Amino acid sequence: MTAQSPPDEAFLYEQLATTISKLIDVGTLKPGDRLPSVRKLSKKRGVSISTVLQAYRHLEDCCLVEARPQSGFYVRPQVRNRPTEPQITAPPLAVTEVEVSDLVMKVLESVADPDVVPLGAAIPSPDLLPTARLNRVLASVARRAGPEINTYLLPQGYDPLRQEIARRALDWGCSLSRDDFIITCGCLQALSLCLRAVARAGDTIAVESPAYFGVLQLIESLHMKTLEIPTSPRDGIDVEALERCIEKEAVTACLVTPNFHNPLGSLMPEAHKKALVDLCARHQVPLIEDDLYGDLYFEPPRPKSLKAYDRDGNVLQCSSFSKTLAPGYRIGWVAPGRFAPEVRRAKLASTISTAAPLQMALAEFLRQGGYDRHLRTLRRAFANNLERMTQAVGEYFPEGTRATRPLGGFVLWVELPERVNALALFREAVKHRISIAPGPIFSSTGQYDQCIRLSGGHSWSDRIEQALQTLGRLAGRKTGGE
Ligand SMILES: Cc1ncc(COP(=O)(O)O)c(C=O)c1O
Repeated sequence: MTAQSPPDEAFLYEQLATTISKLIDVGTLKPGDRLPSVRKLSKKRGVSISTVLQAYRHLEDCCLVEARPQSGFYVRPQVRNRPTEPQITAPPLAVTEVEVSDLVMKVLESVADPDVVPLGAAIPSPDLLPTARLNRVLASVARRAGPEINTYLLPQGYDPLRQEIARRALDWGCSLSRDDFIITCGCLQALSLCLRAVARAGDTIAVESPAYFGVLQLIESLHMKTLEIPTSPRDGIDVEALERCIEKEAVTACLVTPNFHNPLGSLMPEAHKKALVDLCARHQVPLIEDDLYGDLYFEPPRPKSLKAYDRDGNVLQCSSFSKTLAPGYRIGWVAPGRFAPEVRRAKLASTISTAAPLQMALAEFLRQGGYDRHLRTLRRAFANNLERMTQAVGEYFPEGTRATRPLGGFVLWVELPERVNALALFREAVKHRISIAPGPIFSSTGQYDQCIRLSGGHSWSDRIEQALQTLGRLAGRKTGGE
């Protein structure tokens, strides 16, 4: 949706696609059924032919329908052997010191080699990003800028960029002004500033289990401790389990990813989000939200941010442009609520401010429009990648393998049958020039040694399909399947 277009108009085709996908979901439209002709549906729904075509193409990108030349659009056969979903996690409910950094370094080294098939890192492939346009905007901003491009900005960042982000906050259900934001060096710095603003060394931070390894490393480096909370691969953190923990343990803060969690891909239902925000407010436990993947939903509407339910400034909302637009720019933000003075001080003490030219270029890119169009294309690509990846896991991995069914983002969490050890599989995969993220890096309590995370950030290709076939074969050997 461009900044000017009203949401209803801009999302008409998405609404139509959602209606049809629901019909497929409930079996009203079955595999092999022909969709109504474009002309007929356009007449029936009172929408333009191009809207119907766009809706059908969207469904095609989501692998739900296929176009047959000269014949029309048909419901595709659903993923054969779709793996069962993993169960809700059950970490030991114990406060733990964190030590994951050495292992994470090994995984990151395996990803850096361009000859390796990149299933290990949750990075959007450069060919899916509008880098050429960003380069042009950056060059023109640099040409036109005055001396302010080459000086320190205030810690809170470049005003026009904060203004653009505040405009986008409406999509997450928030009415915020530019003064509510502090620009950061990526989402990870935003999370780091928040942790430093609300907790000290020795304090306990409640996190989902599994949790993004960058967060675990952060907690490790700040000499804080984690308390891993059971988390559903579908609905996210178990709010009742968290409540029991908060009542029993001294929890200083919670850090959660409500929308398309990494690595589970889970999406908290809106009622759970509200319950979580209320719980933390009641107990005066600051709630740090990582909403990095919120814009990457496969079906509208955009899920709300926890911040949308925040009444007293207890939610610190963090995100960035790293997964959608410019991972290399390292630009993110935090809306720190009532902790703004502490977060601003932490920012001043860490990097003073974020690089001015890059903030200016991003602000100009967003001002020019077209970001929402890019997001739509990106979401379709990720939905397609994950669908194909799920299909490949169902086809090539040993019996008993489970896999998540994310409704957004671009990672798949795979639970292997009992006898497969994720670290051994990781080492063997590297020998075959394939990178994967082994489960144990997502836990401070040594869980998930049967799990791996696969990234669908790269456009689907034969090379990726073959890599998954190889991985399945390697995993099969461990189960005695070969
Ligand atoms: C859940 C989550 N949070 C934070 C980050 C870090 O984001 P950034 O690159 O913007 O610092 C990542 C990166 O993979 C992530 O997956």
